[in-house]
Amino acid sequence: MATGLEQKTVVITGASSGIGRAAALDFARRGANLVLAARRQELLDEVATACRALGVDCRTVVTDVTLRSDCQHLIDVAGHVDVLVNNAGFAIFDPFESAKADDLEAMMQTNYFGAVWCAQAVLPQMLARGSGTIVNVTSIAGIMGYARMGGYCATKFAMIGFSETLRDEVLGRGVRVAMVCPGTVETQFFVKAERGKMPGASRLILAIKPETVARAIVRAAQDGKYRRILPVGAALFMKLKEAFPRLAHMLMRRVSAVLEKH
Ligand SMILES: NC(=O)c1ccc[n+]([C@@H]2O[C@H](COP(=O)([O-])OP(=O)(O)OC[C@H]3O[C@@H](n4cnc5c(N)ncnc54)[C@H](OP(=O)(O)O)[C@@H]3O)[C@@H](O)[C@H]2O)c1
Repeated sequence: MATGLEQKTVVITGASSGIGRAAALDFARRGANLVLAARRQELLDEVATACRALGVDCRTVVTDVTLRSDCQHLIDVAGHVDVLVNNAGFAIFDPFESAKADDLEAMMQTNYFGAVWCAQAVLPQMLARGSGTIVNVTSIAGIMGYARMGGYCATKFAMIGFSETLRDEVLGRGVRVAMVCPGTVETQFFVKAERGKMPGASRLILAIKPETVARAIVRAAQDGKYRRILPVGAALFMKLKEAFPRLAHMLMRRVSAVLEKH
């Protein structure tokens, strides 16, 4: 069955592990050619080999998304880009009063500015052609602020603000901007981000597999839909948060207090 992605070129940042790796494999299964970016060459090569085994063309570009020049180089090497997936990111959780300035800065440079630099590098060619899709992997932490996750939440709120703005700016010019906002995903993300520091109530939303998020990213590339929140439990809670923010925060605080006691 045609996927609409055959022979398209998809650039994925943060493709060396977790969600980015799973997305690369999912795109490859649907016939897209890939350009994979991250800092760890060996892991990128492993993912690329697995993608090529599925019959598609796959290139790797060692990229540190905090460097504007690396992001420009990535897009230059990729050439014609049909889909850009801004996925590179990490988190360090800490209460604001003890959060390290370097951590706050590094998260913003990677999660937010990394996406901005890649989007800025690819946008001119997409606008000139009148086609292309940018998929930003944000988080439910960009829709609701969670205690002890402020530095990370700020980066994802920034990403969502930027995505919404860009979407409105390019609407009707053939370029689509879509967001995928996962809850907790079982990846290496939690090597750096300490799960125990998340509010207790966040444990009530079950963790999902990176393959589930990868599927949402692929669908976003296909239909350009404004926003996908997953899993369903997270989507429902975000609806509550957006309709009744104070109630959602009160519930989060109270339920967390009970769960964290035990
Ligand atoms: N796991 C979750 O619960 C969860 C929930 C919501 C949203 N997210 C978001 O999903 C995205 C992917 O995370 P994940 O869960 O798949 O975590 P992961 O397995 O740790 O993957 C993170 C990826 O980002 C790359 N990366 C980090 N810093 C980078 C930099 N400066 N330049 C280039 N690449 C960089 C890493 O590659 P290198 O180290 O090789 O550079 C790696 O490929 C992140 O944006 C994260 O915020 C995750």
